[in-house]
Amino acid sequence: MLNKEVEKAINAQINAEFWSAYLYLSMSMHFANKGYSGIANWFMIQFKEEQDHATIFMNYMNSRDGKVVLQPIEGVDTEWESPLAAFKATYEHEQKVTALINGIYAVATAEQDYATQNMLQWFIKEQVEEEDTARGYIDALEKIGDNGYGLYMFDKELASRAYTTPAPLAGKE
Ligand code: FEO
Repeated sequence: MLNKEVEKAINAQINAEFWSAYLYLSMSMHFANKGYSGIANWFMIQFKEEQDHATIFMNYMNSRDGKVVLQPIEGVDTEWESPLAAFKATYEHEQKVTALINGIYAVATAEQDYATQNMLQWFIKEQVEEEDTARGYIDALEKIGDNGYGLYMFDKELASRAYTTPAPLAGKE
């Protein structure tokens, strides 16, 4: 039986993951509209990954006899002035998500819920990657500036990103 405080924190996180998915879907649609098909692809995969994150939490809740309660998803921005602005917003958002994951870990620690602490390890590692990737793209885009060929190559690079099922859903962890 899942501790009630932990259950509450995970339900809030499920909502945050779906909000993240909606944010990245909005970014994907924005850049598709602006002719950046590679960046649109990257954010579309990000959209899928965030839904996966929510699913991992929902599966975990069900496995611990917790009750998933889905809450309304708040609206998201629909315009970004440049790819750099979108990746800056992504980086800021992922830092907030990291803080939320750390917050659940703190609740699980206070409640001596070792299974939840163990489950969160995957997310803690994932957040390091999420922040590192966004920061790397910010660095690249700052170097590119307004260079059209640079932006073309950046878009081309992001077109190569392919979706892979995260380990907890692929039955590897
Ligand atoms: Fe679900 Fe981007 O962290």
